[in-house]
Amino acid sequence: MKPRRLFVTTALPYANGSFHIGHIMEYIQADIWVRAQRMAGHEVHFIGADDAHGAPIMLKAEAEGITPEALVARIAAERPRYLNGFHIQFDNWHSTHSAENTTLSQGIYKRLKAAGFISSRPVEQFYDPVKGMFLADRYIKGECPNCGAQDQYGDACENCSSVYPPTELKNPRSTLTGAVPELRSSDHFFFRLSDPQCIAFLRNWVNRGQLQPQVANKAREWLDGPQGLGDWDISRDAPYFGIEIPDAPGKYFYVWLDAPIGYFASLKNYCDRTGLDFAEFTDPERAQAAGTEMIHFIGKDIIYFHTLFWPAMLQFAGYKVPDAINVHGFITVSGEKMSKSRGTGISPLRYLDIGMNPEWLRYYIAAKLNAHVEDVDFNPDDFVARVNADLIGKYVNIASRAAPFITRHFNGQLASPQAIEAAGVALDGADAAQTCTQMIEAVRESYETREYGRAIRTTMAYADRVNQYVDLHRPWELARRLERDPALADPAAKAAVRAQLHAVCSECLIAFHHLTLMLKPVLPALAQAAEQFLQVGALRWVDADQRPQTIGQYSHLMSRVESRHIDALFDLPVAKETPMPSSAPGSTAAPGAATSAATLAAANETNAPVAPAAATAAAASPATAAAPDKAAVAGASSASATISIDEFSRVELRVARIVRAQAVEGADKLLQLTLDIGSGTRNVFAGIKSAYDPAQLEGRLTVMVANLAPRKMKFGLSEGMVLAASSEPGAGGPAGIFLLSPDSGAVPGMRIK
Ligand code: MSP
Ligand code: ZN
Repeated sequence: MKPRRLFVTTALPYANGSFHIGHIMEYIQADIWVRAQRMAGHEVHFIGADDAHGAPIMLKAEAEGITPEALVARIAAERPRYLNGFHIQFDNWHSTHSAENTTLSQGIYKRLKAAGFISSRPVEQFYDPVKGMFLADRYIKGECPNCGAQDQYGDACENCSSVYPPTELKNPRSTLTGAVPELRSSDHFFFRLSDPQCIAFLRNWVNRGQLQPQVANKAREWLDGPQGLGDWDISRDAPYFGIEIPDAPGKYFYVWLDAPIGYFASLKNYCDRTGLDFAEFTDPERAQAAGTEMIHFIGKDIIYFHTLFWPAMLQFAGYKVPDAINVHGFITVSGEKMSKSRGTGISPLRYLDIGMNPEWLRYYIAAKLNAHVEDVDFNPDDFVARVNADLIGKYVNIASRAAPFITRHFNGQLASPQAIEAAGVALDGADAAQTCTQMIEAVRESYETREYGRAIRTTMAYADRVNQYVDLHRPWELARRLERDPALADPAAKAAVRAQLHAVCSECLIAFHHLTLMLKPVLPALAQAAEQFLQVGALRWVDADQRPQTIGQYSHLMSRVESRHIDALFDLPVAKETPMPSSAPGSTAAPGAATSAATLAAANETNAPVAPAAATAAAASPATAAAPDKAAVAGASSASATISIDEFSRVELRVARIVRAQAVEGADKLLQLTLDIGSGTRNVFAGIKSAYDPAQLEGRLTVMVANLAPRKMKFGLSEGMVLAASSEPGAGGPAGIFLLSPDSGAVPGMRIK
């Protein structure tokens, strides 16, 4: 297959402010698409720029007492921080306020004029005599001509929603100076969209089938609506920050004329820099011969400009027209339209500054995007749940569960396909390779068609299968048997268990390799770290049927989103870091419940060990963690007296895996647990029988006190204890015992401090 040659853009953001989350969402959508194309071996030139012109930028600079150039330069200087921060990989970022754009815009205008598509006529418009400039509708306010509401803008009433020309407002005022505007006449230039050739071209272009159905319908409504297409006013009078119209002193191009030409200006700048041939992307014949494509990503509010003005301008100026306009909906936050003025929404810079992982957002947005023009809601709870459950719980976990065994027992070598087959534990059965290749092809296709949500669903369904496989074959159990089951003295039995452990963990890592491939367009940095760990080259779609051979040392790939991140993102008061163990209680434990040794609950069981004071005092609830003073701590847990950090460090807390859990004959509160703490296993009796079904506990991670003196009990030796939360007796909290778990990624033996 011949590689495609793609010129891809996103809408050019106005340079009067920093990026907001809507911009970032658009770039993430386009960047994922671009990366997926590159993984297919296609040639992609991903181009952006600032939209620097127009009255708002001019007025904002004036208000700050600086030139518009200085304002635009300041905004341009901060762009890379955001773009790099979210792994958005533009090949070039330029500006509409540039030599290239002036030349191209004036050139396009001249060609349109020569072809008879430019006309001129006088237009009556409000003028601010104090400011000495014509006023766009948004700079005029007055009383609504329909309902009389005060303080309404010049184009529409926010009270009764009626739409009107500014000249109908009662008592109009300039919002810039408060002056009463005067009607004045001035000559304007028009692009003759109403020309029958233009209408015919656009009808054909809109119906060519490359637009999303919803977008094509909108464009048809405008084309064939009762008023038809009017000519387009493309000039503004000085003072204006823009590009001068040739042979028309004091006249500038309206910002929306030169803005899309900015796509070409940035491309031109890039071609000059890299030696690419600009004409191969912009000249109709040359582009056809070179097989290049022009693809725009935009939001739903600027469809009109991109489906009508832009293609018509290009067509009649003799340029190539776009091949696709990919339109997305808006991002809302908790169902609300974001508004910078009301301070809702999410600040992308704050997101990065507080140390949130950009790939969480990329993943979340990808999971919610499809090819339709639908809004995407950022819901904080949903965000936390999805990232933690999918990315960490399903995907990263597969590697973190399997890798240590491969490193420890097999020197990092994966089992051969034959060995896996022979061990009888193949993950996908006989046609594994084919199934996988088909699945990866389906995911690639989903990215291609911008059905990212579908790509993610397919990927996560596979991750679910792999996790079920892990739960079925329990590699930790195999490893435990291998390491210390006396029954495995027989070399043949030992070899069989070893082969199984090798095969199961290898299958997991091969699956992890496939999952990484499928997530790579969304998670470029994580994929790179995974490639390094799997010791494979940069993954591409053709690598679907490859498998890693050896692995390097596994190091933590991604951590979880925490509620403190969300609080900080939305600027809520943040709990300070706590020096206490940070193990989060299980989801149903109420904040404030004391974390105590579960064996406490069994205190009335004969000879049950009693927890040391330090462990019972470890109440790491948000309420106590945020309050440094003793009184507050004491208030939360009556058992608390302060201890020094040294005293606390004497308690050796470790992550433990419950490899076996069983009822104890003759004890109605105790379960006997076999805990794997990396360096060996421990036998512990814990008073948690009332809360847990033993079968449910096997395989899960918890926290144990590892240096507690062993204690002889009626039922056997207890070699430590596990930690759980429960309400203080008589305090009225929820009943029950809640075993602690470390965040995913932790492995047995890890020290907790
Ligand atoms: N300067 C023009 C575009 C010129 S393109 C030749 C413009 N700039 S903008 O800064 O207002 O918007 C830039 C892009 O961000 C547009 O595609 C717009 O749809 C998108 N978004 C603005 N708010 C958005 C959301 N809330 N959600 C998603 N995208 C949004 O328009
Ligand atoms: Zn009104």
